[in-house]
Amino acid sequence: MTASTIRANGVNIAFDDEGAGPAVVLLHGYPFNRTMWREQIEALKGSYRVIALDLRGHGDSDVDPSPATMDQMAQDVAGLMDALSISSAVIGGLSMGGYVTLAFCRLFPARVRSLILADTRAGADTAEAREGRVQQSEKVLEQGMDSISDALLPKLLAPETISDRPEVAQRIRAMMLRTNPKGASAALLGMAQRQDHTSFLPEISSPALILVGQHDAITPLEEAQKLQQGIAGSHLEVIEGAGHVSNMEQPLAFNRALEAFLNG
Ligand code: MLT
Repeated sequence: MTASTIRANGVNIAFDDEGAGPAVVLLHGYPFNRTMWREQIEALKGSYRVIALDLRGHGDSDVDPSPATMDQMAQDVAGLMDALSISSAVIGGLSMGGYVTLAFCRLFPARVRSLILADTRAGADTAEAREGRVQQSEKVLEQGMDSISDALLPKLLAPETISDRPEVAQRIRAMMLRTNPKGASAALLGMAQRQDHTSFLPEISSPALILVGQHDAITPLEEAQKLQQGIAGSHLEVIEGAGHVSNMEQPLAFNRALEAFLNG
């Protein structure tokens, strides 16, 4: 894949830009990077221009140790789109990428053709979750990414992914270990500060696809149902046999839903 870097919103953002056609911008989860979208890029690039970027603090993008808010990341995405002369696009994100997608929709509604929210939620963190983020951010700074990656994996993946597709678990583990602890810490503190988008959902008028892994333990089906109820006319698909990282765990089913939505 052809990775490039562009300065946007004060940071260098690395991205892949594949294919031609209507633009689809894909935003990864925490603490991953743009390579999580490999199978979706392959599936879509024949008909779409697919941009998969590393959100600040992740992958090959710049790391800024101050809290990376979802609004800041959304502004980075807008800056990258400006630099690539993309006025509007399909914006899709998984988990933290979904938080950024919702922030993008609130900040730049005219730039959203349609949106994809995978394994994510509209709500903010509880006080307990915020406290957990602060503790995790201190842990990664002190002990590195391998202090959290092994404990995270069973929460991220469906049992059948762990037993039947160890290569997927290995890929996800490798992505986590590649993340700069300062970037992970900044994202954790940014997620802890994120605003509740529940009351914003009815203002979304773009077509929306909501996806959730059947066994997602981090953002379970009820969260996806709340998104569906909040966004008028949105469509919900449950990805059988997947956990939280549904696009990597069950790429064929994920891509089928994605293509049906985009082509429809
Ligand atoms: C993610 O996959 O991006 C994270 O699980 C999101 C979160 O921790 O809320």
